[in-house]
Amino acid sequence: MAGMSKIATGNGHGENSAYFDGWKAFEKNPFHLTDRRDGVIQMGLAENLLCFDFIGKWLMEHPEASLCNGEGVSKFKETALFQDYHGMPEFRRAVANFMAKVRGDRVEFDPDRIVMSGGATGAHEMVAFCLADPGEAILVPTPYYPGFDRDLRWRTGVELVPVICESSNNFKITRNALEAAYGKAQEANLRVKGLLITNPSNPLGTILDRETLKSIVSFINEKNIHLIGDEIYAATVFMEPEFVSISEIIEEVECNRDLIHIVYSLSKDMGFPGFRVGIVYSYNDAVVSCARKMSSFGLVSSQTQHLIASMLSDDGFVDNFIVKSKEQLLKRHKYFTWRLSQVGIGSLKSNAGLFIWMDLRKLLKEKTFEAEMDLWQVIIHEVKLNVSPGSSFHCHEPGWFRVCFANMDDNTMDVALSRIRTFMLNNNEAVVPPNKLCRRSSLKLSFSRRKDDFMSPGIMSPHSPLPQSPLVRTRT
Ligand SMILES: Cc1ncc(COP(=O)(O)O)c(C=O)c1O
Repeated sequence: MAGMSKIATGNGHGENSAYFDGWKAFEKNPFHLTDRRDGVIQMGLAENLLCFDFIGKWLMEHPEASLCNGEGVSKFKETALFQDYHGMPEFRRAVANFMAKVRGDRVEFDPDRIVMSGGATGAHEMVAFCLADPGEAILVPTPYYPGFDRDLRWRTGVELVPVICESSNNFKITRNALEAAYGKAQEANLRVKGLLITNPSNPLGTILDRETLKSIVSFINEKNIHLIGDEIYAATVFMEPEFVSISEIIEEVECNRDLIHIVYSLSKDMGFPGFRVGIVYSYNDAVVSCARKMSSFGLVSSQTQHLIASMLSDDGFVDNFIVKSKEQLLKRHKYFTWRLSQVGIGSLKSNAGLFIWMDLRKLLKEKTFEAEMDLWQVIIHEVKLNVSPGSSFHCHEPGWFRVCFANMDDNTMDVALSRIRTFMLNNNEAVVPPNKLCRRSSLKLSFSRRKDDFMSPGIMSPHSPLPQSPLVRTRT
């Protein structure tokens, strides 16, 4: 048989990593509230399920937005034939409008700069193709979303160089850390073409403050390298301080706008990863023009464009959705972190995202990544929770774990939290202050009483035990 290409036979996708053992354990034995209560609970999936009732109501009130019914059929033919890679004007206008609203209408977005792609996954690859040649490098602060290794590197041949951030200053992106990474890349004879930041951060759930953003913009300007801002969690900021977009910063400081590119998607902010709506918003005309041509490889289906255009051009819906979504996330986050704190588990202080960055350093037998893996194996196989170890996010300190809190219904979340509690009490009595231990039964009572303060009304998880390839779910 004739051989295959290096890309096809290499390990650039990253599926063969220990990280996926957790996914495999989940797939083999997925938790179900009634049918399989001893199964593995999926807490490694950054999905946002908390507003589907609200979205469902809008869909019922706007049947014309869906084309496959009596109300939508008059638009069916023209939509089915549409194939312009610029995208439908009303779609681009609606997305630009949504991006502005999510950023508090403090900035405007030009619909003519909106380029479509297959999710943020496709958007990142497209940007990497536009900005760098094989063997050139992009700097990425740690910890970072594991999918970047696939999205920016696999098919483009671009290298990623970590910018090491540390827990001692809450993983801040400092000028020193940026300079150190830049220097390392140069020592390795890698030409640095850009810096990729994720704001709000996956996995940290934190946002970058104005000063840090300004210092990042001055860094990339001085080095004359590109800045890619992944802002796909912009609407998940559920608590003060408010989100600051890179698009605001470039209005405030002198900079070469040709270097600035935003990656956006509706996968997290709306909770629609299945629709594959990804966006590249570049301030550089040449990048917009090239990316638009490349977008032929990953267009958003015209049916989806039609639906999204109808939904996101409804200002009343969008305004209410943004508020509602934040409220739901805040409730979940509060409840989740409170229950963890009751059993002595801390987490990085956060105000955004669909996850928390849980600190289990004190449970490690020693401060090594091997010990982190050992603990992780116990969490997956004995506690039966699929959480993600920090090492899979290129975190440089062992003991941190990402736990998703918005991808399940209230009851499943309660089972997960009870398992964590039992695990902590059985394995590490020392972490629970003695006064809390003797009040255990009353604590339990107060959990159920207080639960109503935090719970979201009646959401059900769509996660019936359907087998999913870890390859597919790498992205979250
Ligand atoms: C930071 C970040 N960027 C990009 C993606 C990919 O998103 P999409 O589903 O839009 O491809 C993810 C998914 O989890 C992510 O967390």
